[in-house]
Amino acid sequence: MRQTPPPRTYRVKSFGCQMNVYDGERMAELLAEQGIIPAPEGEEADLVVLNTCHIREKAAEKVYSDIGRLRREDGTSPLIAVAGCVAQAEGEEIMKRAPAVSMVVGPQAYHRLPGMIAEAVEGRRAIDTDMPAETKFDALPDRRKVGPSAFLTVQEGCDKFCTYCVVPYTRGAEVSRSFKDLVEEAHKLVDAGAREITLLGQNVNAWTGEDAAGRAIGLDGLARELARNPDLHRIRYTTSHPNDMTDGLIAAHGELEKLMPFLHLPVQAGSDRVLKAMNRSHSRDSYLRILDRVRAVRPDIALSGDFIVGFPGETDAEFEETLSLVDAVGYAQCFSFKYSARPGTPAATMDGQVPAEVMDERLQRLQAALNRDQLAFNQASVGKRCTVLVERKGRHPGQLLGKSPWLQSVHFTGDAAIGDLVEVELTEAGPNSLSARLLHPAHA
Ligand code: SAH
Ligand code: SF4
Ligand code: F3S
Repeated sequence: MRQTPPPRTYRVKSFGCQMNVYDGERMAELLAEQGIIPAPEGEEADLVVLNTCHIREKAAEKVYSDIGRLRREDGTSPLIAVAGCVAQAEGEEIMKRAPAVSMVVGPQAYHRLPGMIAEAVEGRRAIDTDMPAETKFDALPDRRKVGPSAFLTVQEGCDKFCTYCVVPYTRGAEVSRSFKDLVEEAHKLVDAGAREITLLGQNVNAWTGEDAAGRAIGLDGLARELARNPDLHRIRYTTSHPNDMTDGLIAAHGELEKLMPFLHLPVQAGSDRVLKAMNRSHSRDSYLRILDRVRAVRPDIALSGDFIVGFPGETDAEFEETLSLVDAVGYAQCFSFKYSARPGTPAATMDGQVPAEVMDERLQRLQAALNRDQLAFNQASVGKRCTVLVERKGRHPGQLLGKSPWLQSVHFTGDAAIGDLVEVELTEAGPNSLSARLLHPAHA
């Protein structure tokens, strides 16, 4: 590594889950505090942060091809930092495989990035994949301007150890941020322009804390406190684990108006034998019963989930059980994946790895069913009146885009501004979005 001038411009590229998006925003703020500015569109940045995801094989391989693509014609590269879950999982390996990388920093250590940049400028490569006791959140600068819909990480890590999953290794044990810090950060987000906050965690509903009076509370207690801010109109949370759907959180869906009628509750598979092999610690039935209870208090709730097809040993008949579960639920939207063997996880060495063609075919069938249900859900919304939080301009002149309470993308033309919460009538449905007619502004 040779010495380089201190970077003037940066670009942060985040992959993977929304928690990485949040971390990417915080890293950008940290760099801005150092006087490094975002690289202008179309221009090469002096410093590139690849904020990576390790969840599936393709996601990890992508990092190396991205590093290759940053190489200039003369063989040099900008300063490259690899952050995120690949950094945590592969650490030293990245340094070996990619000489162009000068910094490797894990998701719990990125507050130390400024010191690492100073090292890199001097020509020394720096690696930090600690999971320090001090929290990065205390060392990060305040939130700056944010969009109408903002993310707030409230919980990190996972203790569930599903047998296919790397997250417990890359993100560590479950940790909840303190009530006081979160309430403070949420108010700052609202002051900076947020009208909706999505509470994030690898297992967000495992969040626990103590309220101002010292009482033990769960995520519903946190949501109730945030809802008291009159300028915050919407609260969402993701991703939840079925085993952490407490009575209080279910009840909140019926009581707390600002809690949006949307629940992302991954199930992964419909067969009890597969769920057991995955170490999901819930059954098909216990999952369905949770959904029944949420629907009982909030009948219009939009449901979402994650699925894995081709887990080792999954038979045709077991896969059919996933399809029948999908039919039984009627999801509004879902994510579905082919099983990807991750080194170091128990499932990677299980018998009965499913051939690629079988996985392809199962994924196609599952996605056909999920797409059908998503379109049906959108079509059933036509004629409804609802609020839309305007998030950005659309492609056509005068067109605005936002989200319905059920997290559908909605576009309309009319007199409104970004950040407005407007009342619309949904008029037409496609598979991925709806058009609407503006009725009148609901809030200025
Ligand atoms: N904590 C969340 C999700 C974390 S990862 C939860 O348990 O719901 C997001 C999704 O990626 C998972 O829900 C799962 O569907 C998928 N996923 C995780 N590991 C995977 C693997 N090895 N192969 C394929 N999909 C995987
Ligand atoms: Fe991974 Fe399971 Fe934890 Fe979700 S609950 S992050 S799938 S181990
Ligand atoms: Fe990927 Fe890490 Fe999120 S592996 S899905 S970026 S927790």
